[in-house]
Amino acid sequence: MINIDEMASFCKKKGLVYPSSELYGGLAGFFDYGPYGVELKRNILNEWWKFMVSSRQDVVGIDGSVISPTAVWKASGHLSSGFSDVIIPCSKCKNSVRADVFLEEKMKKALTTRETSKIDELAKKYKCPACGSAFGKSSLLNLMFPITIGSSETAYLRGETTQMIYLDFKLVQNNSRLKLPFGIAQMGKAFRNEISPRNFLFRMREFEQMEMEFFIKPRENKKWFGYWKKERIEWFLNLGVDKKNLRFRAHRNDELAHYAKLAEDIEYKFPFGWKEVEGIHDRGDWDLSNHAKHSGKSLDYFDEESGKKFIPNIIETSVGVDRLFLVFLYDAYDDDKKRGNVVLHLHPKLAPIKVAVFPLMKKDGLPAKAKPVFDELKKDFNCFYDESGSIGRRYARMDEIGTPYCITVDHQTLEDNTVTVRERDSTKQERVKISELKDKLKGLLL
Ligand code: GAP
Repeated sequence: MINIDEMASFCKKKGLVYPSSELYGGLAGFFDYGPYGVELKRNILNEWWKFMVSSRQDVVGIDGSVISPTAVWKASGHLSSGFSDVIIPCSKCKNSVRADVFLEEKMKKALTTRETSKIDELAKKYKCPACGSAFGKSSLLNLMFPITIGSSETAYLRGETTQMIYLDFKLVQNNSRLKLPFGIAQMGKAFRNEISPRNFLFRMREFEQMEMEFFIKPRENKKWFGYWKKERIEWFLNLGVDKKNLRFRAHRNDELAHYAKLAEDIEYKFPFGWKEVEGIHDRGDWDLSNHAKHSGKSLDYFDEESGKKFIPNIIETSVGVDRLFLVFLYDAYDDDKKRGNVVLHLHPKLAPIKVAVFPLMKKDGLPAKAKPVFDELKKDFNCFYDESGSIGRRYARMDEIGTPYCITVDHQTLEDNTVTVRERDSTKQERVKISELKDKLKGLLL
């Protein structure tokens, strides 16, 4: 398996992902998606929305604001130490390390304390990895990004998308006339001032989340936690991720987020180890209770069945699109030595380009015959047309970005109006009538 730096180079070379602001030296933790990357990312977003929202009766969506007032993040607990990392600065150079990550790597065991005095003691045994000097005193770094609205009002870029769901909970429930249990979903950007963004798209400062908050009656937590664990793993498997590269890992009590009563991660086996891709959290009534307390407004739910009022509990599913992007890439990546090129075995639903159309040669009237085929297919599929270079090289370029089917217009097409359809994974080709091509591809792709 290629390492993460090789994956970053592959992504840049193939128009999937670029380091952001590279022209000016770049900015750590920020990336831009290129022409093929944006398609793959959108397909991931669409598949999640279809599975979690539009195919269900009990989940609806919102699209909330990215910026919200300080009061929101005070109530949610994100401005407290619970949403901070302990950092250890070098006493000499500008380097800082994240205490939990650095000391865990050194001590080969999880760091369970956030007490800075204890961390200072432990850190004395080690030197700054950048310059070899001793470490200075550790401190807490809050992950929220403050911004200024107008000339003086402080607000925050959201550290997770989910808070907007809680703020809109009453409105959505009334508008949608939903009764417990029901969910509200959202996808969009989140921002965290990570001290050590690393591993390419794995730990970024600006990233995208897809979150669903499922509102339930108190004491039904265990049942729905189990239900959503099953649903979510199913989603990964349906999109072709290899089962042996996925696992659940329950959080220890000392690593639970400030809002969570119980949490399990879906982890993926990356070349840099098993790492969290998605979290399933039992948030109890933490969020709604705190927002009710801080805003002074009731967020009670009236249960017609029992005639009682209460604050619902919440089971959350939370996944980052950028980490998923890496999961699907790693799972699909195959350096096929026999073919002499990389093949991305992406699920057809995720593939950035669905069909490529090639005239075998740029002469003999083949482009004129191929162009209308492309124009017609483009109405239904994300299609690519290419008439330059050898046909083998054109196939290879499509393999490398995971295009499932390549259509070739050759001399036989001029005689009998058939084309070849080449399948990416097997490289097998079959002849299909142009008049039947669209239906055939619909059957294969949709
Ligand atoms: N609302 C709950 C929440 O935000 P989290 O475990 O902090 O929980 C959920 O984040 C998911 O968001 C993670 O599993 C990961 O996929 C993604 N994520 C979190 N921080 C990230 C970062 N710095 N860069 C990329 N993705 C991140």
